[in-house]
Amino acid sequence: MKAIITTAYGSPDIFKVGQMEKPIAKPNEILIQIHASSVTKADTMMRTGKPYIGRLMIGITKPKNPIWGTGFAGVVEAVGSGVTQFQVGDKVFGENIDTMGTYAEYVTVPEDGIVAHLPENLSFEEAAGMCDGGITSLNFLTNLGNIQPRQKVLINGASGSLGTAAVQIAKHFGAEVTAVCSTPNIPLVKALGADYTIDYTQDDFTSRTNTYDLIYDTVGVRSFADCRNALTENGIYASPVLGLPLLSDMMVTSVFGKKKAKFSATGALPAQETKRLMGILLEIIEAGNLKGVLDRVYPLEQLADAHTYIEKGHKKGNVVLKPVA
Ligand SMILES: NC(=O)c1ccc[n+]([C@@H]2O[C@H](COP(=O)([O-])OP(=O)(O)OC[C@H]3O[C@@H](n4cnc5c(N)ncnc54)[C@H](OP(=O)(O)O)[C@@H]3O)[C@@H](O)[C@H]2O)c1
Repeated sequence: MKAIITTAYGSPDIFKVGQMEKPIAKPNEILIQIHASSVTKADTMMRTGKPYIGRLMIGITKPKNPIWGTGFAGVVEAVGSGVTQFQVGDKVFGENIDTMGTYAEYVTVPEDGIVAHLPENLSFEEAAGMCDGGITSLNFLTNLGNIQPRQKVLINGASGSLGTAAVQIAKHFGAEVTAVCSTPNIPLVKALGADYTIDYTQDDFTSRTNTYDLIYDTVGVRSFADCRNALTENGIYASPVLGLPLLSDMMVTSVFGKKKAKFSATGALPAQETKRLMGILLEIIEAGNLKGVLDRVYPLEQLADAHTYIEKGHKKGNVVLKPVA
């Protein structure tokens, strides 16, 4: 099968198009022909091999796994002898966090992994990009933010992958949503349901008098210290981008003060918890309250261009690869 082979860390030109053995489903696995796979901001960071601490999981001197990529949507081509929930021909989508392998024409996934039948109202391209932003934002808004109806929630970086999911999920839970993005993205976040918008190129939400129960900084560009005055008395600041300031703010606020700073590595959650979040995500999708926002679609061979585009930091929603024409 055709795949993108990665044998080193570095710039986008490390990716090589090549041929690999088509995987075979083990008794507990399904073999999926991939129709779309996600390319994420996290993928671009992993490709550089920095920060070095991340290599403990993905390979110290070179990548452990020659095929990267986690998000997928496609059609079941074969099932292992012990598989009961999926059949050949089923349309599925999900996230292969541990073993990756979705920058390719085929991937095998354990039946009890993060995989579900594709809802009727989603295309392969929309679905492939949906798990990373969707599951992460669901984790941050519910597990960390304990989101409640009528709460005031501010989402910074509302036009990215995590942000576009967050706006819709926060509305699903009945929150009043303020979305922060740049001028061209204001119509997009309004269409996703934001009650209020703030254009960060014109206005700074931290210097206004408004306060929020939850500030979710999806892109990690405003610190807890920046946001402290914009939080309500028991307000929570949560960001998926970990640095030393956030680490220290988490430690300090876990002991002192009513306002809290929080982080979670969603990919490192126990599998059972990720599956629980996937189940809730499906309910939100099936209720018609979460749509995939698709920015660009690249052929498999142009993965390097997809990484270069994402690294500019201005994608709208999701970018996907299409291994089949
Ligand atoms: N901890 C976890 O569990 C976890 C899981 C997944 C991802 N992540 C991390 O989460 C981060 C976000 O991922 P993502 O995929 O959502 O990123 P993304 O899609 O690449 O974010 C791009 C968006 O960020 C906006 N943006 C850029 N600068 C901004 C600023 N100064 N203020 C407000 N918005 C700004 C851009 O809007 P404009 O074009 O309008 O500027 C663009 O729409 C990444 O660092 C990723 O590695 C963490």
